[in-house]
Amino acid sequence: MRVLGIETSCDETATAVVERDSKGCGYILSNIVRSQADEHAPYGGVVPEIAARAHIKILDRLIKKAMEEAGSLLQNMDAVAVTSGPGLIGGLLVGLMTAKAIAFSAKKPLIAINHLEGHALTARLTDQVAFPYLFLLVSGGHTQIILIRDFGKYKRLGTTIDDALGEAFDKTARLLGLPYPGGPAVEQAAYNGDPKRIVLPRPLKNRLSPDFSFSGLKTAVRYAMARLSPLKKQDVADICAAFQTAVTDILSDKVLLSFALFREIFPKQEESVLVVAGGVAANKTIRYRLEKLCSIYGFLFIAPPSDLCTDNAAMIAWAGAEHWAHGKSSHLDIGPRARWPLDENATPRIGAGRKGSKV
Ligand code: KG4
Ligand code: ZN
Repeated sequence: MRVLGIETSCDETATAVVERDSKGCGYILSNIVRSQADEHAPYGGVVPEIAARAHIKILDRLIKKAMEEAGSLLQNMDAVAVTSGPGLIGGLLVGLMTAKAIAFSAKKPLIAINHLEGHALTARLTDQVAFPYLFLLVSGGHTQIILIRDFGKYKRLGTTIDDALGEAFDKTARLLGLPYPGGPAVEQAAYNGDPKRIVLPRPLKNRLSPDFSFSGLKTAVRYAMARLSPLKKQDVADICAAFQTAVTDILSDKVLLSFALFREIFPKQEESVLVVAGGVAANKTIRYRLEKLCSIYGFLFIAPPSDLCTDNAAMIAWAGAEHWAHGKSSHLDIGPRARWPLDENATPRIGAGRKGSKV
């Protein structure tokens, strides 16, 4: 089957065409992403109104481009999959209304996808990962550890109780006067820094819960800056290195806890897999530490290529194909959801299941 995917939940306008064969293998026929980073950079974060307007301007063209690159016509599509939450409501509306119009006029099924499910199932497209597996999502809007038991059976083990990790990177960068998006800038500066000179806290580390908290770290960065002011280039590098080490320690601690939970729930599982995705998964220090942790504790480490780890529409088209293979589609009256936790039974947390403005 061939599925057209549309993603507009945050600051990337993305379209893709993905094919799924009868054996369940996936093929990306086209995958177009247009980042709005330049439009938001002057504000140091995503401005929802600017994001929605930028999606409207370009989405039609990107849909056409995705079809052309895939060598497909609308008639050859089996379904239209679109992110309908969680995310910024204006952007979600643009994508959803466009997808509905296409589905209605071309008489194709509409499949509304949870953006988090898109991230969670990407490793099945790229690496044919079988259920069950552990999934760590570290992005600008989310930081969660989810047990992917089976299709549609997702159990949240841990989540942030305040800031998402990417958000913490972005805010730290902004404090330090580094450019947006902050993650790559902090990583770059950290290469020249001493991670031991400045001691930052590790909130919620060594607790029995796999929940995260990052807002205190940002405050600690602010205090460190005040102590060292006026900051020299080396001070900035040292703070970045200390920040990156602190968050890597926290992630390792929580992932280790979730390894134990996974083994408790699936004691007979032959191959245990940790899948990592989201923009922060592009960070080399974090990747290296998690990969090492996996090799020590007998987990297979899988991180999709970075263009499929960050927001894209191939993951939405693929999730749509998985839904369609299970006979699932959506009604045309479905609405967007700014908040939409993947595990609806999990206790709501302040920062969970939401992709809000990063400003
Ligand atoms: O998944 P993503 O592209 O979009 C969201 O769904 O949010 O993630 C974007 C986030 C930003 O906060 C960005 O600063 C962070 O991922 N990021 C990084 C790196 N590259 C991107 N964080 C740390 N290190 C990086 N190399
Ligand atoms: Zn995302």
